[in-house]
Amino acid sequence: MPQPFDRADALAPAEIAAFVRSLSQEEAQARIDWLTPELARHNRLYHQDDAAEIDDRTYDLLYRELELLESRWPRLAHDDSVTRQVGGEPVDGLLPFEHRVPMLSLANAFSDEELQQFDARVRRRLGRTEDDPALTYVVEPKLDGVAIELVYEQGRLVAAGTRGDGRTGEEVLHNVRTIRAIPERLHGEDVPYRIDVRGEILYPLEGFAQMNERREARGDKPFENPRNAAAGTIRQLDPTITARRPLTFFAHSFGFMEGAELGESHSAQLAALARWGIPINPYNQVVTGIDGVIGSKDALAERREDLPYEIDGAVVKVDDIALQDELGFVTRSPRWAIAYKYPPPEVVTILEDVGYQVGRTGTVTPVAHLAPARVGGVTVSRASLHNKDHLAELDVRIGDPVVVVRRGDVIPKVERVVLDDGHEARPHPAFPTHCPECGTELVLKEYKDRTKQIMQCPNALGCPAQVRAGIRHFAGRTAMDIDGLGEKLVDQLVTHGLVNKISDLYSLQKRQLIELERMGEKSADNLLDAIEASKGRSLERCLVALGIPVVGESTARDLANHFRSLDALMAASTEQLVEVEGVAEWVASQVHGFFESEAAREELARLRAAGVQFPELEAPAEDEATADSWFAGKTVVLTGTLPTMGRNDAKKLLLAAGAKVTGSVSKKTDCVIAGADAGSKLDKAQSLGVEVIDEDEMTRRLGGEA
Ligand code: IVH
Repeated sequence: MPQPFDRADALAPAEIAAFVRSLSQEEAQARIDWLTPELARHNRLYHQDDAAEIDDRTYDLLYRELELLESRWPRLAHDDSVTRQVGGEPVDGLLPFEHRVPMLSLANAFSDEELQQFDARVRRRLGRTEDDPALTYVVEPKLDGVAIELVYEQGRLVAAGTRGDGRTGEEVLHNVRTIRAIPERLHGEDVPYRIDVRGEILYPLEGFAQMNERREARGDKPFENPRNAAAGTIRQLDPTITARRPLTFFAHSFGFMEGAELGESHSAQLAALARWGIPINPYNQVVTGIDGVIGSKDALAERREDLPYEIDGAVVKVDDIALQDELGFVTRSPRWAIAYKYPPPEVVTILEDVGYQVGRTGTVTPVAHLAPARVGGVTVSRASLHNKDHLAELDVRIGDPVVVVRRGDVIPKVERVVLDDGHEARPHPAFPTHCPECGTELVLKEYKDRTKQIMQCPNALGCPAQVRAGIRHFAGRTAMDIDGLGEKLVDQLVTHGLVNKISDLYSLQKRQLIELERMGEKSADNLLDAIEASKGRSLERCLVALGIPVVGESTARDLANHFRSLDALMAASTEQLVEVEGVAEWVASQVHGFFESEAAREELARLRAAGVQFPELEAPAEDEATADSWFAGKTVVLTGTLPTMGRNDAKKLLLAAGAKVTGSVSKKTDCVIAGADAGSKLDKAQSLGVEVIDEDEMTRRLGGEA
């Protein structure tokens, strides 16, 4: 059978999102099921076997595609996906943690039928017939957090590691020690010599919401969901940051054990842990037969909304350890357990009104104002309605009951209308003709794929909503990174008329700032320093900061690397822009359009006049740049103490110029660079007749003049 979704040739960055959106659930599943093991395989080839089959860029693009698919269809995501591995991106300074017993994942079930099939499979393998009694199962919440292994030796917590790729994770004991739920010592007579306890670290919902509020107020990007927040927190290098965040923990399984008498069933083993002081989830239930399982997971689903942390399903385990052993494992998951994944949380509530919101680029989008309702553990009163056409397709009227869904991402969506008797008589939402923020008449624009129309406020420079969003974006972490310039302050600056466009930031005066509410002398000084520091940001960051439509971090990097200076980029034609790898025609025309506009050119001139440097990138270190250096392709040796330069710095310069820097002198050596107190290497060079030069001469030749 043809496999339509087993393509490894990555899509262009600009096409991924549209591709992902175009897939049906089944197609998305097929693509996820292919991409997940494929990316894991490439990860292994690269990190462990040193035998990469695809280049980094292709890997990154496939990874990005999987990430988008998973965020759109969280229920289809595999638990052992590379995107969920806490060890995904290396953080400088965390040490590897080897799991003595690999951390596996669980097969998934999406329906009651699939649970029944699981039970039938288990019974068949165990040789049970219809007449045999039902099996005992444990049903546990499937905790949506970060998997962790805690190593207790003689009752003391001695190590803690993330899951990583299942074999090697990262050592995070320094952070785990700050989590109050995790005991430093186990208590009891029968504490084993060694036990590796596995469980989930969770970010409780309330603390999560508060932390994100604080982040947004500071202008930091909020975490997408509690799981990401927990993952980010547990990998902090500085444990005082972890200590300030209210993480919690529940144990659910075991790794390596020595000298442990835990009991003959999973439930008894968990009870032993609980006796020793390790938290076990209070909603775990022991049930009889698959009907008991189905009833229990349904009851748990009912409670889901009230739990103080996120769960994304129920885990079903055969309770008897002897039977577990008999059943064993298939490749990466046990035959004795399965994860039932809940559908994304949804709730029915009333659409009270439709408001309109103006985005950074002037797009006006409808927003549903809802009667507040809890969904997926958070209270929702606003939801996305995407665009004008979506609103029409839904045929939603003011006062209609609507189904609101919260898929993995934070912004909930109005999925459909519950058609009741009153629907026909209710009023249609009004479409605005003028910008709700500045009153300018709106224009209709075609969306990039020409299938939809979007409403736009053309008053880019004068519309306060666009100005505020543009300045917040400019100051953001991935852009100019102006510390202290958060959302509230930007609103104040715009409201007080101190800043109307981004270049105004650079003429702010201390006396103006200290008149603002809650702004002291010290904060004003800090802010001015941060603004000053932003003038030297890299070209790539400056390009992100300008807020050119569709230019995110990755396109900005591609453009900066290709054109190397703002002037070259500004002068580029659409054809030249399309030549940049990863820049689609649509993106090229947006970029070209931006730099063509009088307003953008004037603003760029003002930024430059204010001292923003838009630094040019140095010529690339290889090929064309090194070709004209005397050292290109030469083998050189450094010896003795150079008068002005450290040996490492000299080495870097030589390498950048294309030299091979070796440690010992031979006939193959082209040249020895000798400083004071050069010893045997200098002697050897002289005896072999190898050229010897000093630092001055090296510098001259590095300049390409020799
Ligand atoms: S038992 C052999 N129980 O889900 C796997 N896992 O796909 C034994 N998880 O990586 C795991 N809640 O991190 C188990 N009650 C629970 C769980 C649970 C969440 C995670 C776990 C594992 C993944 C399995």
